[in-house]
Amino acid sequence: MTNEYRTRICNVLVIGSGGAGLRAAISAHESGCEVLVIGKRIRNDAHTTLAAGGINAALGTVDPDDDWIQHFVDTYQEGYNIGDPKTVEILVKDAPERVHELVDWGAPFARTADGKLDQRYFGAHTHRRTCYAGDYTGRAILNTLVSKVEELRIPIIDMTYVSKLLVNTQNGQKQCFGAVGFDINSGNRTVFLSDSVVLAAGGHTRIWRRSSSRRDENTGDAMRLALHAGCKLADMEMVQFHPTGMVHPESLAGTLVTEAVRGEGGHLVNADGRRFMEDYDSARMELSTRDRVALANYTEIQEGRGTPNNGVFLNISHVEKEIILEKLPRMYRQFMESQMLDISKDPMEVAPTAHYSMGGVVVDAETHSTDVRGLYAAGECTSGVHGANRLGGNSLAEILVFGKIAGEYAAGFSKDLDLQMRNRSIINDALKELDELTSNGEQLARPLQRAVRNIMWNFCGVIRSGEGLEEGLTELMKVKEASKDVDVRPSAEGFSDLALALDLLGSIDSAEATIRSAIARKESRGAHQRSDYKQLDTSENVNYIVELVDGNQSISKTEVEKLPELLQDAMDAYEELSVEGRLLE
Ligand code: FUM
Repeated sequence: MTNEYRTRICNVLVIGSGGAGLRAAISAHESGCEVLVIGKRIRNDAHTTLAAGGINAALGTVDPDDDWIQHFVDTYQEGYNIGDPKTVEILVKDAPERVHELVDWGAPFARTADGKLDQRYFGAHTHRRTCYAGDYTGRAILNTLVSKVEELRIPIIDMTYVSKLLVNTQNGQKQCFGAVGFDINSGNRTVFLSDSVVLAAGGHTRIWRRSSSRRDENTGDAMRLALHAGCKLADMEMVQFHPTGMVHPESLAGTLVTEAVRGEGGHLVNADGRRFMEDYDSARMELSTRDRVALANYTEIQEGRGTPNNGVFLNISHVEKEIILEKLPRMYRQFMESQMLDISKDPMEVAPTAHYSMGGVVVDAETHSTDVRGLYAAGECTSGVHGANRLGGNSLAEILVFGKIAGEYAAGFSKDLDLQMRNRSIINDALKELDELTSNGEQLARPLQRAVRNIMWNFCGVIRSGEGLEEGLTELMKVKEASKDVDVRPSAEGFSDLALALDLLGSIDSAEATIRSAIARKESRGAHQRSDYKQLDTSENVNYIVELVDGNQSISKTEVEKLPELLQDAMDAYEELSVEGRLLE
């Protein structure tokens, strides 16, 4: 079986067909390289399509005072000072150009009456800087990128699961020379040989019970591929819980209710009818930072002021129906179709849901290269931009800005490459690993996956404690042991069993990295709230790093970079809002 595979050769291999991957593919192609994109879903259905409310760029079309420095300050400050300053600076400076370019390629963003790009409020932004296409901005962006990629005739291979990055070690230096994958329908294997690789395969937030990701996406596969290739992961404990996910029906619990509902004037109300954000951030109310609003919603529910379905109310019924239909068409449809609820008349019920991996693969700010030569990474699988809390709308900016950069530098690497060594035994090992996984066993991947999701929700959720995290780790290690005996057999339905087994391994690796990092960070900061260390501790202005040492996860920490003078001055002028009294007692 090991010898049955096809080989495909390109200069730049892109793993992931969401926004970051496609933008990387476009820039690598424009740099003159042969590019191949692989996605584990159908191209138009990557997770980017679920990003709803908008994309940030300091264009100043609606609020002319806005500029990149203010966007930097908002992003860095609300990341609680552990984002990477250089990465944030590149993001905020490049975002306007990436948005204009998308518009040139046909993205249907909303306009003001005088024809400028409209910008809406998103939480914790000092200015309106979020461009949008109703509440389907991610879909609009993905469609635009897919059209561009097709126009450039860049091949995309759908429904292909990458199981391993191929990495050769020469003179102590690791170098990536491609990847091994298989077709989820036919099981046919391919060895992808390339000069360089861009990893853009998303995050790991599907490993919580309530998640805004769909089944089988964001299962931590990118983190697993990177770790085993020899990369480091940073800030894995920093997982964003979006304040507003659906709470029922159970099959849709966790589904995103866009922040744009609050951006367009929606109120959060508890069962006593009180707009409770008054008690948590009276200045910014519902448009406070995501960590604060998520914690507020969580606290209201835990303290017994929640709704019948364990949520809080999100009410936009005071806004004119025509505006709701124009600005929030997806939300209107989502609630009508799933609950027969007319949001122009009645409030929604919402609760926190795991939404975004703010940590991930460690990359160089300017090139998005990793610790492995020839391996680049972009988008949600990376770390650096968001620190301990992400501003809504920065993710779509991130995938475009750093997708472009990663693609360009991966292409540059390919062009400068004198010699690429392909190691036959490493290819054979990767194929053998697939053989070994495809075997009968006593365990099924889905229930184990569910066990991981319960562990993460119960022990590593909105509020954590040292004791709970240790218990979670112990439980996770039992699942890890059980995962060695998973039953994988191809059927008339294809090789989805094998994909599920690999998703499970990605989930376990990323869960372990998250819990270990959360244990190490003994303080509360942004999305990482510990009931046993309730205060932010400035001696923890560090990034926790996970890497594999002799096959086991090992944790260390690095100091954050200092700010350049201009940006330090801008930060000093920022008045920090009170965060007192936020923790659940
Ligand atoms: O709520 C939202 O529309 C999500 C946006 C984001 O995560 O950037």
